[in-house]
Amino acid sequence: METLSGVAATQELVGQWRRGGLSVGLVPTMGYLHQGHVSLIEAARAENDKVVVSIFVNPTQFGPNEDLEAYPRDKERDLKICEREGVALVFAPTVEEMYIQGAATKVGVTGLSEVLCGRFRPIHFNGVCLVCSKLFNITKPNKAYFGLKDAQQFFILERLVKDLNFDLELVSCPIVREPDGLALSSRNAYLSPDQRKAATVLSRALKAAKNECEKGQRDGQALTKLIAEMVGAEPLARLEYAEVVSTENLSQVTTITSSVLVAAALWLGKTRLIDNFIFSPPVS
Ligand code: PAJ
Repeated sequence: METLSGVAATQELVGQWRRGGLSVGLVPTMGYLHQGHVSLIEAARAENDKVVVSIFVNPTQFGPNEDLEAYPRDKERDLKICEREGVALVFAPTVEEMYIQGAATKVGVTGLSEVLCGRFRPIHFNGVCLVCSKLFNITKPNKAYFGLKDAQQFFILERLVKDLNFDLELVSCPIVREPDGLALSSRNAYLSPDQRKAATVLSRALKAAKNECEKGQRDGQALTKLIAEMVGAEPLARLEYAEVVSTENLSQVTTITSSVLVAAALWLGKTRLIDNFIFSPPVS
C-alpha cells in the first residue's frame, strides 16, 4: 500500500494506473475509520482494480463554532485498516497541500444544500462540494463511493457530478449500524456512556416511522410528529429537525406518493448525530 500526501505524486501514480487500463475506486473519508467506512472500501474493492482512500479532515466544511479541532484522528490505526482491507493508495494531504495559498474558488450546489442539515450548517455542503471536486480531480476515479448515512451529501454530490460533467460514477452504500441500531459515526466517540445509551433513540424513532410507512401511513406530518415525540421522551436528547422530503429534489412532502427521505438530526450534549431512511411506496 502506498501512502501519499502530495497532490502531484498522487495524480501521477493514479494517472499511470488509468493509462495502464486499470480502474480506480475512490472512498473519500475524514478518517477515524469504522465499519461504515470499511463497507465502502469493500464495495470499491469488488468493483475496481485499485482502491484509493482519502483521509482528510476538511476545514472548509466545518462552521466557525463546530468541532474541527476536536474531530477524532488516529492516522496510524486508519492506515492499518486500509492495509488490511487491500487499499492500494491512501491519499492523506495536509491542509496546506489541499488549500494552497491564494485559493479563491468556490463550488456549491444551490437549493439542495440549503435544506435539512444545510439549514443548520450553512457552509457545510459547499465545503463538501469543494473538497470532493478536488479529490475527484486529484485521484481520477472511475467510481466514487459514499454512504447513505449522509444521504443529503450523496444527493448533492450526484447533482455536482452531473452539473460539472465529472467523468465518474457515484455509488451509494447502505448505512452500517451497531447491534442496537445506532448508525456508526466517527462522532459517536464523543458520547459519554449515558449519552451513548440515549443515542439509540434516533434510530428507534426512525425505525418506528419506517414501520408506520410500511403499514400504510402516507402523512409526512404524522411521521415527523412520531419522531419528535419519541425523541422528546429522551431527556438527554434534543431534536434539531425531523423531515420527510422527496428524494427527487429534497422538497418537503405532505402526502407520500413516491420515494421519500425521512431524515433527522439531534443533539446529545455537544454531539450532533444524524440518521435517515428512504421509503418507496409500493406501486398500486
Ligand atoms: P466521513 O464522515 O468520514 O464519511 C466518509 C464516508 O463514509 C461518507 O460517504 C459517509 O456517508 C460514509 N459513512 C459514514 N458512516 C457510515 C455508516 N454508518 N454507514 C455507511 N456509510 C457511512 O462524509 C465525510 O466524511 C466527508 O463529508 C467527506 C465526503 C469525506 C468530504 O470531506
